[in-house]
Amino acid sequence: PRPILLTRHGESQDNVRGRIGGDAALSEAGELYKKKLANFVGKRLKSERAASIWTSTLQRTILTASPIVGFPKIQWRALDEINAGVCDGMTYEEIKKNMPEEYESRKKDKLRYRYPRGESYLDVIQRLEPVIIELERQRAPVVVISHQAVLRALYAYFADRPLQEIPHIEVPLHTIIEIQMGVTGVQEKRYKLMD
Ligand code: G3H
Repeated sequence: PRPILLTRHGESQDNVRGRIGGDAALSEAGELYKKKLANFVGKRLKSERAASIWTSTLQRTILTASPIVGFPKIQWRALDEINAGVCDGMTYEEIKKNMPEEYESRKKDKLRYRYPRGESYLDVIQRLEPVIIELERQRAPVVVISHQAVLRALYAYFADRPLQEIPHIEVPLHTIIEIQMGVTGVQEKRYKLMD
């Protein structure tokens, strides 16, 4: 059975500053992760000639994929991080202080809350449909390098987690979640490449 490897991009400069959204490059730790990931993928998919690497269109995922060689890379806009609209580039502290109503309504219903001029988790789940159809169709392994909110939704689909849980699922940085779909159901392994 073919594995699907899910990972977030390496830590970004915005992750370090606690800013959401944006299109930042990698931090020093993120730079280290991209090398470890390439090494892991090279070994894990050594004889898998038809495997492919899927990223978002944001540079933190493209940079994370950059040292992986020998496999085609495909960029999907549908794998871009949840669009935080007017809150893009802010910290959670700043949202709480400057837009307290927004902060509260998101806290009350994180699944349905839509950022002004941005997206909700439900929007993200909907735009992932073509990605999921294509993933289901693949016969070869796929490495998906994306973002926290998007990977929560993808993981929930494969691990059969309920909708309400999606915005709260833990998808840590610098960790690979390997999903194997076999006849007996879905199996999962995690590889933590860095602390
Ligand atoms: O920038 C967005 C984060 O990756 C999503 O985190 O939905 O828990 O705020 P959150």
